[in-house]
Amino acid sequence: MDVSEIQTFEHDVLVIGAGGAGLRAAIEAKAQGMDTAVVCKSLLGKAHTVMAEGGMAAALGNADRRDNWKIHFRDTMRGGKFLNQWRMAELHAKLAPARVRELEEWGAVFDRTPDGLIAQRNFGGHRYPRLAHVGDRTGLEMIRTLQDYAVHQGITFHMECTALGLLKDGERIAGACGYWRETGRLVVFRTKAVILATGGAGKAWRVTSNSWEYTGDGFAMAYEAGAELMDMEFTQFHPTGMVWPPSVRGTLVTEGVRGEGGVLLNSRGERFMFRYIPERFAAETAATIEEAERWPDDPQARRPPELLTRDVVARAIRAEVKEGRGSPHGGVFLDIASRRPADYIRRKLPSMYHQFKELAEVDITRQPMEVGPTLHYFMGGVRVDPDTQMSNVPGLFACGECAAGLHGANRLGGNSLSDLLVFGALAGSGAAAYVRGLAATPKPEPGQIEAIFRQATSYLNRESGENPYLLHEELQDLMQSLVGIVRTGEELAQAIERLQELKQRARNVKAHGSSQYNPGWHQAISLQSLVTSAEIVACAALAREESRGAHTRLDFEGEREEWGKVNLVVRRGADGRPQIARVERPRPPRYLEEIAHATIEDLEAGRVGADAPDEV
Ligand code: FUM
Repeated sequence: MDVSEIQTFEHDVLVIGAGGAGLRAAIEAKAQGMDTAVVCKSLLGKAHTVMAEGGMAAALGNADRRDNWKIHFRDTMRGGKFLNQWRMAELHAKLAPARVRELEEWGAVFDRTPDGLIAQRNFGGHRYPRLAHVGDRTGLEMIRTLQDYAVHQGITFHMECTALGLLKDGERIAGACGYWRETGRLVVFRTKAVILATGGAGKAWRVTSNSWEYTGDGFAMAYEAGAELMDMEFTQFHPTGMVWPPSVRGTLVTEGVRGEGGVLLNSRGERFMFRYIPERFAAETAATIEEAERWPDDPQARRPPELLTRDVVARAIRAEVKEGRGSPHGGVFLDIASRRPADYIRRKLPSMYHQFKELAEVDITRQPMEVGPTLHYFMGGVRVDPDTQMSNVPGLFACGECAAGLHGANRLGGNSLSDLLVFGALAGSGAAAYVRGLAATPKPEPGQIEAIFRQATSYLNRESGENPYLLHEELQDLMQSLVGIVRTGEELAQAIERLQELKQRARNVKAHGSSQYNPGWHQAISLQSLVTSAEIVACAALAREESRGAHTRLDFEGEREEWGKVNLVVRRGADGRPQIARVERPRPPRYLEEIAHATIEDLEAGRVGADAPDEV
């Protein structure tokens, strides 16, 4: 292979992924004088960001003046079961309001309060109405705004281009290789820094809100390049995905439905969530229907249990179904029709209205929806420095869902969109600072480019092999049944054994046809990242012998104190298998620890946290 013949681009900073995090990172790197390019697998604008429909969490205090960064920080830590990186949760809570206002300045048209401020709605685990939103299309509005803004900044976009692997010069990053999905032509990017913003790997599960792009490419590329991944055992099942018809199973039903007053019912018509209130949230959750009905008009009333955190609600739905109280198609009912007037539902939840009307022939202003858990989000990802988002590989950065740390064991709804903006911007400035500090341009070591391309084209060039689509289905069934909401050591060990075998088979699949317009070949390539991501998740899940947040072990019930002190960090071992280390969590500053564990009364009265700095 003559590498000099391959199309080559040179940039200072390459961002891989064009969702909210990637776009915000690119905008920042460009603003700091970097020659910046974005590579995206799809057409620009097609991103999982749009699946964060209900809003972006930021303590603007527009809907309730009592809200502030400290309460947002406390909610995030409690939602994450105290496994979050303290510094990231602090940066996020402090910087989110400025990032939301900036987005508005760049053209985002948020819903308004009667006073003309940005409207904020309730969401699970958030003490106050905190989600700035645009109906139930907030992620879409975010992408539209960032995309419009970014294309006018002189950033280069390489669309429908799949990244295949990272290039290194010694320990440092030197670029990436990819291929154009349309023509199959190979391409090399020689760059000084790479920012991974590739999202998660939801497509490893059968029932998921993720679309075809989310195959763990960033996790796999980082891992192959020697980066550490962290918290990979924590995979979030959003409680409410569509369950019927089968063709749309898993499609997201926004938490905004519950935020706007929707309630969950089982087949007996019971509001079952009252039976699943965990001890930690008991003081802040209504214990009876009567009390829940008084909220939000009565400021003393506690919040309804439908707004508990996602891990809790997803497990409760699973239990109801398992115990025979599910809906006809294996979910439960989500009812907004009997709670809000039809015109209100159509105004605040227009996408849900159309989604159910068109896909399920259900009118949500008159009938309940059938919903069940769907794999939505990875809390884990590349381990990064909180302030710069750089990984342990110099020049390799990660942000958004692809990075670990902010959300701990469970993410609060709405914290993803603010995460993308806050840490996208920090990754962009971190990468720019790194590039400015480089003495010389890194040069990819000989042989790397050839090795990456040989591997990618091997699926086309071999005579025979298994069908990549069938292997993908096998992987999805395996993850769905053995690495689901509820796990056991025995099942995880079985999953790992089967994943070993699947990994070998995936290496030998055959894509028929040529490299042009070849979805089978794309599938063969994506399958490798999916299997790698799945193996890491299963190994980390087996290693964590407790139940915390989104990771529930039937053989290790409840949180264990010793496990609250460590994160699981995964590296690729010399044998290609995941090597897992327990890494002690950094101690937080005193003020953060006090705020996280304070009662809401002490925090609001200023008895705790009064001396905490407001600046970052
Ligand atoms: O339910 C939703 O609208 C999803 C939001 C999120 O994942 O942050």
